[in-house]
Amino acid sequence: MLHLSDPHLDGSPERADRLNAVLDLLPPNRQPDAIVLTGDIADNGVEPEYAQFSAVMASRLPWLAVPGNHDTPALLPSAPTLDVGDLRVIGVDVVVPGENHGELRPEEAGRVAELATGARRTVLAFHQPPMRIGHTYVDPMRLLNADALAGLVNRIGTVTAILCGHIHTACTATFAGVPVLVAPGIVSAANLDGDHPAANRDHPPGMALHQFTDQGIVTTFHYAC
Ligand SMILES: [Fe+2]
Repeated sequence: MLHLSDPHLDGSPERADRLNAVLDLLPPNRQPDAIVLTGDIADNGVEPEYAQFSAVMASRLPWLAVPGNHDTPALLPSAPTLDVGDLRVIGVDVVVPGENHGELRPEEAGRVAELATGARRTVLAFHQPPMRIGHTYVDPMRLLNADALAGLVNRIGTVTAILCGHIHTACTATFAGVPVLVAPGIVSAANLDGDHPAANRDHPPGMALHQFTDQGIVTTFHYAC
């Protein structure tokens, strides 16, 4: 599974080029079964940016996208779930309008639990990770009600992985006994010093590649240098 995040499309060819660079990174003999994009698809959440996204993704594999804090969820063109073998990937909307942090609302948790019914393995995809990474700029904008997420993971019972973005940093963690896998940013990389948060736009766009095997999950990170 190819996992991409934070292209921040703004209508410019430069942003589309960075998204295409990671979409085209894998050779023909190593193509993924699906693509998951974990938010901040658009930079300003306006219609032309989603038209640009649709144009880039038109000839691509089955994909699923979830909204981030820069997105307008209602404008984001995506199916709610994506089945890949026995994996059901479910997009979760944790966006709080006008805010950078995320929140899992009870009605959204209920909707997701219903979508997970009957799946042998479930993958939850959303924008803001639930854990702190030790960065003063991004930590306050995590998914703030992590307890609600832990409750949802327990309620579903088949969650194999949680996929996130938002922090523009490749990251792995464990939450509620489940791996949290965070794709690096496509548009930029977060500055290591959270007190000087200006994003590094010279950094090459990156992606995460997840292999779901019988023994577990193997994740590698790659950059379009
Ligand atoms: Fe972002």
